[in-house]
Amino acid sequence: MGTISWLSGRILSASGSPLRNAVMEIWQADNAGNYIHSRGALTGARDANFQGYGKFETGSDGRYLFRTIKPSIFPGRVRHVHVKVTLPGGQSLTSQLYIEGETGNDGVLNGITNAAQRAWVIRPWTAISGSSANTRAVNWDVVMNFTPAETATPARPTLVSMAGVTNGASLRAGAASGSWITLYGAGLTPTTRTWRESEIAGGKLPESLDGVSVRINNQPSAVYYISPTQINVLAPETTAATTTAQVTVTSNNLTSDPVTVQFKQFDPAFFQFPDQNVAAVRTDGAYVGPAGLIDGVPTVSARPGETVLLFGTGFGPTAAAPPAATVNAVKIRIDGQEAAVTYAGLISPPLYQFNVTVPVSLGDGDYPIAAEVAGVRTAKIVKLRVARTSSAAAIMPSTHRKVNSHQLLRLVTA
Ligand SMILES: [Fe+2]
Repeated sequence: MGTISWLSGRILSASGSPLRNAVMEIWQADNAGNYIHSRGALTGARDANFQGYGKFETGSDGRYLFRTIKPSIFPGRVRHVHVKVTLPGGQSLTSQLYIEGETGNDGVLNGITNAAQRAWVIRPWTAISGSSANTRAVNWDVVMNFTPAETATPARPTLVSMAGVTNGASLRAGAASGSWITLYGAGLTPTTRTWRESEIAGGKLPESLDGVSVRINNQPSAVYYISPTQINVLAPETTAATTTAQVTVTSNNLTSDPVTVQFKQFDPAFFQFPDQNVAAVRTDGAYVGPAGLIDGVPTVSARPGETVLLFGTGFGPTAAAPPAATVNAVKIRIDGQEAAVTYAGLISPPLYQFNVTVPVSLGDGDYPIAAEVAGVRTAKIVKLRVARTSSAAAIMPSTHRKVNSHQLLRLVTA
């Protein structure tokens, strides 16, 4: 069943010479949209009288000829015939042929960006006059190194619509002005990496990595980490207390559907190491946590009475560019006791840093740690490992009292 069609033409070299002993294979859907390789028929039983596949070897004139039918529509595509040409030397071309006037929104065809090459795979399926069966003729020359190879269907990136946009520290749904955000989705990008320090030009954070960017209410955000299923960005600042934001990911020039998220001015959260341990660093640069917490990175317990550095996001505005103190005071409680906060502000790259004194009264153990800013508390409670026997941190000159924040970012986010 179907519209009988004679598909003929020549296999040519790029300079136009006919190529002999070229093997041309074609395969296509039957009149009901089914391929011979279909896992079960799509739209009905496969037409048992339709072969679905053909093969032809050219002579010295380079000519080929197939008797087939006009393919039916395979879901998501326009009508097309698959073609593979293999030359005696082994060079091959896999392409697809289209029907003039039926070339609507097709991902494979649209993947051919060169207009001349695109036109070359679209041919009229012309009625043969006097033919009672409404037979068609299609003439198509395949030119090696010119006829475009088929491209994979480019897929748009997708963001998870529920809880796909999360606070980058607590990983709970929602986001805050000027804060780290972790996005979850599919097909976001084929590559996995963080920004390179060389991509921070004159202090300006990159707004795209490998063609991947994120817009929040149509404003660009700084992109830190990209992977097929997760992207970490730094959201732009807003002045509104709470607003609804539309978040989109663009990758390979294709943009996801937007996801709507409540965008708050304050959504405080501490960054954490694995197993709900707060990301804490002693003044000598040692990371705080149970032994063996992070592969390849030694960890120590915090000592009562010493200062530890904590890191967070969503703690609201600062008066100036980093490093700068938060506008709103930050309270931190460890085991329910208010701890002395000697510094609360943004460092660069933008993480809030808190210098906090571990209460002297604490014995050995894991203690809950929480923060509050502008009346908003951290929604997620994390823990701090304390031991009285922990070695004292070496006293460092104050100018050295800063962590490698790039390494820290990798540990807490990527
Ligand atoms: Fe197909």
